[in-house]
Amino acid sequence: MLSLGISSTIHRNKSIMAYLTKFKHTGSVISSSNQFGAKMFAVAAGFFQQYVRGVFVGTGSGVVAQYFIQANIPFVYVEKHPAFVRQFHERFGAHTPLLAKDFFTLPLDDSSGGLANCLIVSCMPVTGPFYSERLVEQFRDALNSGSTIVQMSYTPFVRQVRLFERLQKEGFLIERKGSVLMNIPPASVFVLRKS
Ligand SMILES: C[S@@+](CC[C@H](N)C(=O)[O-])C[C@H]1O[C@@H](n2cnc3c(N)ncnc32)[C@H](O)[C@@H]1O
Repeated sequence: MLSLGISSTIHRNKSIMAYLTKFKHTGSVISSSNQFGAKMFAVAAGFFQQYVRGVFVGTGSGVVAQYFIQANIPFVYVEKHPAFVRQFHERFGAHTPLLAKDFFTLPLDDSSGGLANCLIVSCMPVTGPFYSERLVEQFRDALNSGSTIVQMSYTPFVRQVRLFERLQKEGFLIERKGSVLMNIPPASVFVLRKS
């Protein structure tokens, strides 16, 4: 009994060390963990039957994106930072469809990379200085065009995110589907839909 307890403590400490020492080569301590990537994928997978394609926004270091490469529906990846675009190509190969674009330039149609009638998975930040009227409009238009958005956030509650509050007031459905503490900082997954 005692040795079982000691071995599980050692295992837990090893996991924490492995987690803390792997900052995914981003040069930043702010990085998604594998646990969080898996959680984003599990939540998004619940919508694979409803859509024929997905758009993944904000690939960053690829920790979350890696789970979507073999998804049941094809994803187009979008990243605006040239260093992360390069990193994505190196890691996932030139054949993986990546648009080196800004989310705000994506059309609201059914084209590849279009924001209508698709599953949007977003790791793009939406709080603090990243909040804007343009952001509210682009999210609202995508939701009204038949899309569902799976959004990551370092803020745990719906009410703390201004974008979500605005969309809720307009009648959209915003749900927190889970949080992962083993992330720096801890992060939550939200689903945004037209109710
Ligand atoms: C929080 S990081 C991504 C986290 C990612 N899961 C990781 O572990 O690296 C946000 C990413 O979104 C990208 N991004 C931010 N705003 C964007 C926009 N408007 N269009 C496309 N990409 C954007 C940033 O360049 C950055 O790579």
